[in-house]
Amino acid sequence: MSVRGLAGRNIVLGVSGSIAAYKAADVASRLVQAGATVDTVMTPSAIRFVAPLTFQSLTHRPVVTDLFDPRSELSIDHVALARRADAVLIAPATADLLSRMAHGLADDPVTATVLATAAPVIVCPAMESHMYRHPATQENLERLVQRGVRVVEPAAGRLASGQHGIGRLADPGLIIGTVRQVLGRNGDLSGRRVVVTAGGTREAIDPVRYITNRSSGKMGHALAEAARDRGAAVVLVTAAPVGPETAAGIDVRPVSSALEMMAEVQAAVERADALIMAAAVADYRPAAFSSHKVKKTQDQWELRMVRNPDILASVRTTAVKVGFAAETQDLRENALAKLKAKGLHMIVANDVTAPGSGFESDTNQVTIIDRSGRVEELPSLPKMDVAHEILDRLVTLLP
Ligand code: CTP
Repeated sequence: MSVRGLAGRNIVLGVSGSIAAYKAADVASRLVQAGATVDTVMTPSAIRFVAPLTFQSLTHRPVVTDLFDPRSELSIDHVALARRADAVLIAPATADLLSRMAHGLADDPVTATVLATAAPVIVCPAMESHMYRHPATQENLERLVQRGVRVVEPAAGRLASGQHGIGRLADPGLIIGTVRQVLGRNGDLSGRRVVVTAGGTREAIDPVRYITNRSSGKMGHALAEAARDRGAAVVLVTAAPVGPETAAGIDVRPVSSALEMMAEVQAAVERADALIMAAAVADYRPAAFSSHKVKKTQDQWELRMVRNPDILASVRTTAVKVGFAAETQDLRENALAKLKAKGLHMIVANDVTAPGSGFESDTNQVTIIDRSGRVEELPSLPKMDVAHEILDRLVTLLP
């Protein structure tokens, strides 16, 4: 089994002196909650914005603030932290810090760590727009990118100065998602292209109404994240809203209807190694779409529906095909029939009415059936764990 996400990973969090330093506390907290060991390293100007005690309390570990403090791990062995790190994350990274990094300086705990580490480095710039856009900053960023540093672009919005523009520290979810992707870059799906579908499609009746189902998209989104975390290039075709941590490093194609999903899947699957259809595709759509809102002039309304194409069955691909079977009865028989009818390599069946399973739930209890007829009943697990269980089996099916 491959390493999953952030659990057990050593992350060095470098904080430099921007007002966005307070947001780094949220990032530290989320990393710790996800199971990572976080060592915080701060520049002298960072500690003027946020007290080291904040990070110490959140990470339960001492914070390095002084390169020459005889009590600090950095001074005892200034490369120890850097060597132990699985990734060095710098959030926020000021224009000044980026400049010093680009020039290979090592005169503060953060730049010293960057210079001493062999681990991947991720920087999250945060500064006023004019500083960010300045050719000097852009050149420094380019130089860092050429050296393999991963940049999480700042967002646009209201800045500390009161002005609006680019320069806000990226969303913490996006930062965490990027760290997960970077950590998994050499995973067992590295070099593979995986297409995942998610969510319940919406079949429009008129401009204000649609027919849909109870799918939340959680299982499909967990699969997309898990595949990314194992090194895959992921296309996520989804009918459900996508959060920043899911979207990080994933090519997200938002869709609404089954027909839209079909078109996106057909295009994405061309160069894919695997297609995982976790979406709850509506089997029927209204026969006609009314371009005006249907008025309540009649006592009854009969809606005529027509069949949607079966995406999984009709998609032409050499990719490994994995389907889901949402059932309420005769789980195994129905799932096996779908596996055969749709030409699948594997099908993941769940009883959507069982407690702790199916729609909207954070857990899922699934039965995995493969082509050879092997049936594996898994216990109820968080959807992220189910996703990894599915991928563990998918990896063995890839040529
Ligand atoms: N699927 C699809 N296109 C459809 C319907 C379903 O690609 N129009 C996919 C689903 O994403 C899933 C698998 O087919 O991976 C099985 O979907 P499910 O809803 O369980 O079964 P259906 O084939 O729709 O059959 P039924 O509704 O009769 O159970």
